[in-house]
Amino acid sequence: MIGIFDSGIGGLSVYREIRKLLPWEDYVYYADNAHCPYGEKTKEYITGRAREITEILISKGADIIVVACNTATAAAISTLRAEYPIRFIGMEPAIKPAVAMTKTGVVGVLATAGTLKAEKYRHTRDTMHGDVVVVEHIGQGFVELVESGETSGPHAEEVVRNSLKPLLDEGADTIVLGCTHYPFLIDVIRKIAGPGVTVIDPAPAVARHLLEVMQEEGLLHGNPDCNDASGAVTENPGHSEFLSSGPDNILKKLVSKL
Ligand code: DGL
Repeated sequence: MIGIFDSGIGGLSVYREIRKLLPWEDYVYYADNAHCPYGEKTKEYITGRAREITEILISKGADIIVVACNTATAAAISTLRAEYPIRFIGMEPAIKPAVAMTKTGVVGVLATAGTLKAEKYRHTRDTMHGDVVVVEHIGQGFVELVESGETSGPHAEEVVRNSLKPLLDEGADTIVLGCTHYPFLIDVIRKIAGPGVTVIDPAPAVARHLLEVMQEEGLLHGNPDCNDASGAVTENPGHSEFLSSGPDNILKKLVSKL
């Protein structure tokens, strides 16, 4: 069983990509929305939450865990890997593909304060950017919009514009979404950024990496060849359970739309 967690419902943007690739697997998803957002919290606090959630997911039967949260990956994944005997898959900010894609030589990264200041993110950025300039901005208020189910409309557009504009003003033509909540705002982000800007959601790449690791570790319970050419599942779909530490109305609503 695949365990997935996030500070809230953002990780569902990763779950949806994983499930497309591995539809026969069983899932348990944990939204830590009673403690959301993680973005401004300390490394110690986030590591404590990540441990508690890991215990819950393992007790539910998870034999591999996806940390579907950039902030928790940056803060806690090395501790989790040291303390638990199972594999953890984390979020990687998509700097490398963005650097390969940009024509203006400027890549923008939107992420939480916690991710942008983390050693893990800075190391990835510094080793990948080459001659390309990387400009960063916190997606201020983005997580709150997604957690409240407000992913379109004039207010959402204003909030997104405030954080996106500084990156566009610097000439960024490629924007990396460095927080798993942000893909739920991708239509608004694209609308404000305009057609000349590419927006990268790293979730499909994380899903492919998970498949490779599960193949290597012999953890797959179904067969990747059971998706026919149209992508339809020809094997029984697996079961998904959704847990949360706070109210689950928005979680349920979003799950029903995935
Ligand atoms: N979804 C998260 C991330 O990928 C965390 C957002 C938050 O709780 O601040 O960073």
